[in-house]
Amino acid sequence: MAARGSAPHFNALGITAHVLLGLVAFASVCLGAGADEWQSRSIYQVMVDRFARTDLSTTASCTVWETCNGTWAGLISKLDYIQGMGFTAIQISPVVKNLEGSTAVGSAYHGYWSVDNYALNEHFGSSADLKLLSSEVHRRGMYLMIDVVVNNMAAAFNNTVPPPVDFSAFNPFNDAKYFHKYCNVTEWTNPVNYQDCWLYPYGVALADLNTDAPVVVDMMRTWIKGLVANYSIDGIRIDAAKHVNDAFLPAFIGASGVFAFGEVLTGETEDMCRYQTRGLLTGMPNYLEYFPLNAVFNGHSMEELFNERVNTEAGCNNTLVLGTFVENHDSPRFAASVSDMALAKNAMTYVLLNDGIPTVYQGQEQHFSGNSTPFNREPLWSSGYDTTATLYNLTATLNKLRNAAILLSPSYVNTTSETLFYDVNHLCLRKGPDGSQIVFCINNQSGGGPAYQLSIGGFGSGDTVVEVLSCTHTTADGIGNVTAYMDKGEPKVFFLASALNSSGLCPTTSPAAPASSAKNGGARETADIWTSTVLAGIVLGCSVWLFA
Ligand SMILES: *[C@@H]1O[C@H](CO)[C@@H](O)[C@H](O)[C@H]1NC(C)=O
Ligand SMILES: *[C@@H]1O[C@H](CO)[C@@H](O)[C@H](O)[C@H]1NC(C)=O
Ligand SMILES: *[C@@H]1O[C@H](CO)[C@@H](O)[C@H](O)[C@H]1NC(C)=O
Ligand SMILES: *[C@@H]1O[C@H](CO)[C@@H](O)[C@H](O)[C@H]1NC(C)=O
Ligand SMILES: *[C@@H]1O[C@H](CO)[C@@H](O)[C@H](O)[C@H]1NC(C)=O
Ligand SMILES: *[C@@H]1O[C@H](CO)[C@@H](O)[C@H](O)[C@H]1NC(C)=O
Ligand SMILES: *[C@@H]1O[C@H](CO)[C@@H](O)[C@H](O)[C@H]1NC(C)=O
Ligand SMILES: *[C@@H]1O[C@H](CO)[C@@H](O)[C@H](O)[C@H]1NC(C)=O
Ligand SMILES: *[C@@H]1O[C@H](CO)[C@@H](O)[C@H](O)[C@H]1NC(C)=O
Ligand SMILES: *[C@@H]1O[C@H](CO)[C@@H](O)[C@H](O)[C@H]1NC(C)=O
Repeated sequence: MAARGSAPHFNALGITAHVLLGLVAFASVCLGAGADEWQSRSIYQVMVDRFARTDLSTTASCTVWETCNGTWAGLISKLDYIQGMGFTAIQISPVVKNLEGSTAVGSAYHGYWSVDNYALNEHFGSSADLKLLSSEVHRRGMYLMIDVVVNNMAAAFNNTVPPPVDFSAFNPFNDAKYFHKYCNVTEWTNPVNYQDCWLYPYGVALADLNTDAPVVVDMMRTWIKGLVANYSIDGIRIDAAKHVNDAFLPAFIGASGVFAFGEVLTGETEDMCRYQTRGLLTGMPNYLEYFPLNAVFNGHSMEELFNERVNTEAGCNNTLVLGTFVENHDSPRFAASVSDMALAKNAMTYVLLNDGIPTVYQGQEQHFSGNSTPFNREPLWSSGYDTTATLYNLTATLNKLRNAAILLSPSYVNTTSETLFYDVNHLCLRKGPDGSQIVFCINNQSGGGPAYQLSIGGFGSGDTVVEVLSCTHTTADGIGNVTAYMDKGEPKVFFLASALNSSGLCPTTSPAAPASSAKNGGARETADIWTSTVLAGIVLGCSVWLFA
């Protein structure tokens, strides 16, 4: 099957995100995208109720614990906003019918309170809308990941224990026999308790499915196989994966036929890594690094992030398919605790350039600052979808750079990063093979940080190297080191000048210089190594793009 449409664009002129509207021949997105395909992707996480409304209003009011009327149609209309940042996949909220009405803990705007797995959430749209979303995402060469709930079904309740649940209201699990008997999860380190009891019984009863029972496993397998096929889904996120029994996970994922991220919320290396080493899950959001990644910008030493990287690499057997993130819909925004933009840039840089699959939660690029759930679920439209926002621009730059590195060498994504340097304030990594390597340094000095120089390796003697966030060039010394002119806590990202042309970034560069002389206005020169015309084909996973 061949479809025609616009491709991910590599912008040669640096004017807008969509300069090059090349017609493409599109050799169909493979069904059953696996880990190999997903590891070259970059994911934007969408909470559908909060992303875009069908009317595209940017002023509609939103009570954060109630439905705000974001839709799949709204999302389709705003895919340019996502693709303009260089993302190659989206992850969306659960799609099935949820319980209606408000409860003591708000309404089911988020999609996690399933009542009927075989009906869609009408607040988000129709079956035709979801199919159109899927085809629009694929037409752009992107992947679609859908969040799914397997641990429980949901019923409103008045906090009378045990919850008086009407099981006949559920589809297809319409009988108490499909569920564990009620008990409240109270022992968070005891798997029998946190897997078999009911989570958070307040206002809503999360009736815990007995996923140990073969009949439940069969029903779930049939359901996910149908959902993936009906909507051409490329990947799934399994909500609360840690709260179902181990054996269920590979059985369920096997039936889906696609890559899965299973949510295992823990900061304990062994607790998370055992899912990989025992073959239960391949992909997981990287909660192990999530905690130190926040801590090092909140008063802790950068060494904590380095140490956890070492632990994770030693404990897990494949860090290249973990999803790096610093914010999600369940955690306070980064900016809830630190408003400093330089620190936010360093965190974003790590998310996009670390080993594994970058995962950015909607609103991070707008520096939203909501605290705990539901205040971290601000409607994105309140930003006006500002594509000039500092972090939007940084995200676009780094995704384009990463996409270019992958295009140059598909093994970029399966090369584990090398630590070049770290201390209490810095972490400098090199990722990718010679020729497409990205060398970057994050630091936690903040916007008031001093001006100084760091010498960083990772290149060859005499290489011309561009720092892509400042569009300055420098030459590597005899041992392949380049000078990073650190100032005001900005992150630094280096790439070979000879390889940068395919990214469309930095069409002109000026010589790198210490902060003081840069402030005096060093003349910008046009580097003759750049061409202003870029026509790039991209090979990401199994989607093959050819410009016609
Ligand atoms: C980021 O902003 C600068 C300055 O406006 C612009 O030149 C550059 O093209 C933008 N980068 C991307 C990737 O959009
Ligand atoms: C969402 O849509 C419903 C149905 O049209 C309407 O009653 C409700 O007021 C809307 N909510 C918001 C926040 O716009
Ligand atoms: C809660 O619901 C149960 C079952 O419907 C009912 O027996 C009980 O009276 C209700 N309690 C309150 C406080 O409303
Ligand atoms: C469930 O357990 C938690 C403590 O883990 C407690 O705070 C809560 O009140 C309990 N809820 C019910 C309904 O028993
Ligand atoms: C998928 O579509 C088939 C055919 O219309 C239908 O029987 C099945 O219930 C659907 N499955 C899901 C999960 O929507
Ligand atoms: C990771 O663990 C799984 C399950 O034990 C195993 O099949 C696989 O070979 C391991 N991979 C690596 C790279 O060690
Ligand atoms: C950066 O690390 C240093 C050294 O551990 C620490 O004192 C400082 O508070 C950290 N900076 C931030 C913004 O967290
Ligand atoms: C890395 O990816 C490339 C391209 O997909 C593949 O040829 C190579 O075998 C992979 N290497 C490893 C170690 O997985
Ligand atoms: C070269 O860079 C490395 C970090 O990659 C650093 O440890 C080393 O000190 C640098 N060498 C010189 C001579 O500056
Ligand atoms: C990019 O630069 C390399 C090395 O100079 C060159 O081989 C290649 O043709 C250039 N690509 C484009 C699209 O200009």
